[in-house]
Amino acid sequence: MDIKSEILKLKKEKDVLILAHNYQLPEVQDVADYVGDSLGLSRQAATTDYKTILFCGVHFMAETAALTCPEKKVLIPDLAAGCSLADTINADELRKWKSEHPEAITVGYVNTSAEVKAELDYCCTSSNAVNVVKAIPEDKEVLFLPDMFLGSYVAKMTNRDNMFIWAGECHVHAGIKSQDVQEKLRELVNAEFLVHPECSCTSSVMYDIASGDYGTRQVQVLSTEGMMKYAKNSPSKQFVVATETGILYRMRQQNPDKQFIPMSENAVCKYMKMITPEKVLASLKEEKYHVKVPKHIADKAHLAIERMLAIN
Ligand code: 13P
Ligand code: SF4
Repeated sequence: MDIKSEILKLKKEKDVLILAHNYQLPEVQDVADYVGDSLGLSRQAATTDYKTILFCGVHFMAETAALTCPEKKVLIPDLAAGCSLADTINADELRKWKSEHPEAITVGYVNTSAEVKAELDYCCTSSNAVNVVKAIPEDKEVLFLPDMFLGSYVAKMTNRDNMFIWAGECHVHAGIKSQDVQEKLRELVNAEFLVHPECSCTSSVMYDIASGDYGTRQVQVLSTEGMMKYAKNSPSKQFVVATETGILYRMRQQNPDKQFIPMSENAVCKYMKMITPEKVLASLKEEKYHVKVPKHIADKAHLAIERMLAIN
């Protein structure tokens, strides 16, 4: 039996739900029950009846699922699948920052550890960050963490001048620079441009849109699932995609008549690619690695996630 059939058979026998992020390897996406962005995966984890969830993504995502549904068993095939962005802030650093702004509301990206989430008022993802910040009274200071490019984008979209932003970045998206954008779009004059708000080019792209530099070209700043939906519904035939290249597999599969071109071939997250079919199979067989969060941290972190899930 090939590895894919073995995974599908065992997952059925053991009644396991497999969730996979849009950046996972094609062979891993192919065995998943649901493939999506951070928000979609959190929602799936929160609403499923399955007792065991095998999470194909990075550690903070599996941890978020474990927080959202403590009665379920959450497994990750490789505990070393981390996130360079989540690593830019720890709970001590956040507590210190909060003590300097005692009246501020703290909004943290889902790309954070459970200890950091336990210190937040609100959690957010790339698809709802603007709405989460909009839900906070305008006169309240906001501490936004840890991604500075997403933070600048949110500040611009909400017109806030009382938002303080942590200087964190994701090494993959920070590497997608505005020079790359200009060169690529000069070559591809008819392509639509889809950009993830974690990219370092986002601020200059927003500035260029406001200045009219893109003319009639369609430019969209979207989460990974937002990109999937947009690509499906748009009548255009060619798209330049500025995010991790794993998303291209699903885009091409769902839209065989359209062309998707990565803004950078180097935008590959080595942590996401640590999850392989072999590790997924081992995880199913041995029910490893169980992601657990201490109850006192989970109870606090859960509140920030619940508040996020309540806002669309
Ligand atoms: P999305 O929530 O848009 O899927 O992004 C998650 C992530 O890690 C981006 O690098
Ligand atoms: Fe983290 Fe960046 Fe990888 Fe997303 S792409 S999981 S933000 S390191």
